[in-house]
Amino acid sequence: MTKPRSPRRLAPARPLRLLLAPLAAVTLLALPLPAPAQDHDALVTTGNRLAALLRAGRAVVSANQDRINDATVGDKGLTPDVFMDQVMAAYLETNGEPPLTDDLTDLQRRLTQAQLDAMRAVVAEQQQVINMEGMGFKGFIPAVFARLVNERFGETVGDLANVKVTAPPDLVRNRTARPDAWEAEVIETRFGAADHEKGAPWFEVVDGADFRMLIPEYYSASCLSCHGGPAGEVDVTGFPKEGGTEGELGGAISIILHDAQ
Ligand code: HEC
Repeated sequence: MTKPRSPRRLAPARPLRLLLAPLAAVTLLALPLPAPAQDHDALVTTGNRLAALLRAGRAVVSANQDRINDATVGDKGLTPDVFMDQVMAAYLETNGEPPLTDDLTDLQRRLTQAQLDAMRAVVAEQQQVINMEGMGFKGFIPAVFARLVNERFGETVGDLANVKVTAPPDLVRNRTARPDAWEAEVIETRFGAADHEKGAPWFEVVDGADFRMLIPEYYSASCLSCHGGPAGEVDVTGFPKEGGTEGELGGAISIILHDAQ
């Protein structure tokens, strides 16, 4: 169990959730046997790829944050083409191959393309905001970019897959990021377990149909200007800081591959 971050973490609901946790664990065990190992591997790879591309996109927003926040410059030159070139380069550098390769499955190709298209569309849509002169902080940050990309991705390929960034319930800022029952359960009982290997995702086939995957994300030093301490102090975005510390679980990338067992 992680140590309390702020008084809100000590809410009375917690002991009840702990009591219920073993029950839920039994439910998980009662699920049908997992799909054959090979299929399973392909699904995990698909999930990891979606997460990796989302992370590359966020990293590019982050790398350009000072430029975006510069009040003295109008046109930032961060066009959709420039942005996407940087995403491709960032993905290649981190993962050793481009997002689209010849050996992708049809599903992987379709989802990757949809994610790339969503990123391009979001950056195109945000040009006016990005290029606003005379305004420093504009609210265009990696988390907002990711949410907009995931929403658009869901609009185009939501019958096949969904990607969402969520967080432990007491850390959630945007209501649409609230964890659903499955996500909350995994965060609490799996990521919160004393023996959870840092960074290890949790995945399973749920209700015999959807493949679900949750990948934990931890605060790094760069997150703490907004999510760090002192808890309750308002950050640059107008939200009260969570009082988080470096290395603490800050959220999770949640992936659903529908009917893909
Ligand atoms: C400039 C301030 C700022 C920084 C720096 C920042 N965040 Fe956030 N973060 C926000 C805001 C604002 C939101 C809500 C975005 C939205 O409207 O969807 C958010 C949302 C999130 C979410 C989604 C869940 C939610 O609460 O809505 C996660 C997870 C998250 N941040 C983790 C991180 C991590 C990890 C880092 C560092 C790598 C980081 N943040 C850096 C401001 C920040």
